[in-house]
Amino acid sequence: MASYLGSKASNVRGVISFVVILLTTGWLISIKSAESRTTTKFHQPESNCRKHSALITEYGGVGDGVTSNTKAFRSAVYDLSRVARHGGAQLIVPPGKWLTGSFNLTSHFTLYLDKDAVLLASQDESEWPALPPLPSYGKGRDAPAGRFASLIFGTNLTDVVITGANGTIDGQGSYWWKKFKKGELNLTRPYLIEIMFSHHVQIFNLTIKNSPSWNVHPVYCRNVIVQGLTILAPTDSPNTDGIDPDSCKNVRIEDCFIVSGDDCIAVKSGWDEYGIRFGRPTKHLLIRRITCISPDSATIALGSEMSGGIKDVRAEDITAIDTESGVRIKTSPGRGGYVKDIFVRRMNLQTMKYVFWITGNYGSHPDKLYDPKALPVIKNINYRNVVAKNVTMAANLDGIEGDKFTGICISNVNISLAKKAKKLQWNCTDVEGVTGDVSPPACALLPEKNADCPFPQDRLSIEDVPLKVCPPFRTTQYRV
Ligand SMILES: *[C@@H]1O[C@H](CO)[C@@H](O)[C@H](O)[C@H]1NC(C)=O
Ligand SMILES: *[C@@H]1O[C@H](CO)[C@@H](O)[C@H](O)[C@H]1NC(C)=O
Ligand SMILES: *[C@@H]1O[C@H](CO)[C@@H](O)[C@H](O)[C@H]1NC(C)=O
Ligand SMILES: *[C@@H]1O[C@H](CO)[C@@H](O)[C@H](O)[C@H]1NC(C)=O
Ligand SMILES: *[C@@H]1O[C@H](CO)[C@@H](O)[C@H](O)[C@H]1NC(C)=O
Ligand SMILES: *[C@@H]1O[C@H](CO)[C@@H](O)[C@H](O)[C@H]1NC(C)=O
Ligand SMILES: *[C@@H]1O[C@H](CO)[C@@H](O)[C@H](O)[C@H]1NC(C)=O
Ligand SMILES: *[C@@H]1O[C@H](CO)[C@@H](O)[C@H](O)[C@H]1NC(C)=O
Repeated sequence: MASYLGSKASNVRGVISFVVILLTTGWLISIKSAESRTTTKFHQPESNCRKHSALITEYGGVGDGVTSNTKAFRSAVYDLSRVARHGGAQLIVPPGKWLTGSFNLTSHFTLYLDKDAVLLASQDESEWPALPPLPSYGKGRDAPAGRFASLIFGTNLTDVVITGANGTIDGQGSYWWKKFKKGELNLTRPYLIEIMFSHHVQIFNLTIKNSPSWNVHPVYCRNVIVQGLTILAPTDSPNTDGIDPDSCKNVRIEDCFIVSGDDCIAVKSGWDEYGIRFGRPTKHLLIRRITCISPDSATIALGSEMSGGIKDVRAEDITAIDTESGVRIKTSPGRGGYVKDIFVRRMNLQTMKYVFWITGNYGSHPDKLYDPKALPVIKNINYRNVVAKNVTMAANLDGIEGDKFTGICISNVNISLAKKAKKLQWNCTDVEGVTGDVSPPACALLPEKNADCPFPQDRLSIEDVPLKVCPPFRTTQYRV
C-alpha cells in the first residue's frame, strides 16, 4: 500500500478512499506492495509481481452479494491503469460475494481473487455494455446485431493476469439461458472472460461457473496461458464452452477440469466469409492434462468456426468421462480455411459416443452471403495412443464430396465397446489415411499400414513461458 500511495500523489481518489476507510471503519490494511526486489527488473514484462496494489474495498466495494460493485471495479481499474505502466498494478478481491456487471482490464495488471472471493455476475442488462460483432464473425452468434461485453473484458492490452487462490467467478447464467431458449435475446450473451487483440495473457488458478455462454475467450491474442481452471456448468446449459482459443497464436492450456454443456475446449478462427476475409489463424496451440465431462459435446473441438485456419495443435494426456467425442473436427462448405497439422496423443476416454469424429457438413452459417464453393482443407490429422472404454461407435469420419480430408493417421488404439454398441464401428466417407494397431479394425479408407503416427519432438515457445506467480496474499495481510 505504501508504495501504491507514495508513487502516485496524483491518485487523489485512491488516497481519499483509503483515508476514509481508515477513519470511518478503522480497518487495518497492510497490503504489502508486491516488492520489486531488484530495480533492474522494474520494467521487464517477465517480472512477476506488481509494484502497486489496491483492494476493491478501497473503491467502495461491498462483498455482501447484493450491492452492485460495477462502479467500484470500473473506477479501481481506471485508477490503477494510471500507475500500472510504472511497475504494474494489482487489484485484490478479498473473501466475500462481489456482485458486478462488466468491467474492463488494463495493461500490466493483475486481477487477484482470493480464496473464498466470489465474483457474482449481475443479471441487470444495463450493467453490460453492447459491443459490435467480432470482425471475424460478422454477426453475433445468438442475435445478429452484436453482443454484450464479457464480465471481464480487455482489448489491445499487454501483460494481463487473472488469477487468485482459486477464487470463483460465478456467471449466474440461468437468467441468460432462459432468455436464450425463449429466443428473447437481441444481443449475443456475454462470456465470462474475453481478452481481445492482446498479448502476454495469463489466466490461472480460478473456479469459473455458470457462464451465460462461453467461459474463457482469448481472441486475436498471442502468448496466452490458461492453467489450473475448474470450469463448471450444468451439462444441459446452452453453449457453455469451457475455453475457446480463437484466432490466437502461441497458446498453452493445461491442468484444467471442465464440466460443461458444450465443448470443453473449442478451437476457432472465424466464421465463413467474415473469417476468411479477416484471415487470422489459430496456431501453435498446446493443450495438455485436461479432464472433460460433456455428455453432448466434444472434449476438444476444432471448429466449427475455423475460416481463418487452424494449424499446429498439439494435445496430450487428455481424459474424458461421459463425453460425446474425443477430438472432433467440425466444418462445412462455405467455411474455407483449413485444419492441418493436428497431433493428439495419450487420450484416456471412458463412456464415449464417438472416439473419432469428423463432420464435413456442420452447417451453421452467419448469413446467406457465404460462398458454398469455399471448401475447407483438412489434412495431416494424427492420433496415437488412445484407450477408450464403453464406446458406442469407434469412428464417424465424414469428409466433403469433392474435397477429401487427407493424411489422417490413427495408431495404437484400443477401444472396448459398450453393450449397446453400433454394428458399424467405423463409418468413413470422403477421407483418406492410414492406421496401425487399431482395435476394432478401421474402415477400408484407413487401411492398416502399421502406421506409427507422429507427434512433434520440438517445443513450442509458449512451453517455456513461466506463470507470473507472486507470493500469495494471505488473509492475515488485510482485514475486511
Ligand atoms: C470496455 O471497452 C470497450 C472497448 O473499448 C468499450 O466499448 C466499453 O464501453 C468499455 N467498458 C467500460 C465499462 O468502460
Ligand atoms: C486494437 O487493435 C486492433 C488491431 O490491431 C485495431 O484495429 C484497433 O483499432 C485497436 N483498438 C484500439 C481501441 O486501440
Ligand atoms: C493456486 O491456489 C492454491 C490454493 O490457494 C495455491 O495453493 C497454489 O499455490 C496456487 N497456484 C498457483 C500456480 O498460483
Ligand atoms: C479449486 O476449487 C474447485 C471447486 O471448489 C476444486 O474442485 C478444485 O480442486 C480447486 N483447485 C485447486 C487448485 O485448489
Ligand atoms: C430487446 O428485446 C426485448 C424483448 O426481449 C425488447 O423489449 C427490446 O425492445 C429489445 N431492444 C432492442 C434495442 O431491440
Ligand atoms: C456405459 O455407457 C452407457 C451409455 O452408453 C452408460 O449408460 C453406462 O452407465 C456406461 N457404463 C459404465 C460402466 O461406464
Ligand atoms: C485392450 O483393452 C482391453 C480391455 O481393457 C484389454 O483386455 C486388452 O488387452 C487391450 N488390448 C491391447 C492390445 O492393449
Ligand atoms: C455413415 O455415414 C454416412 C455419411 O455421413 C451416413 O449417411 C450414414 O447414415 C452413416 N451410417 C451410420 C450407420 O451411421
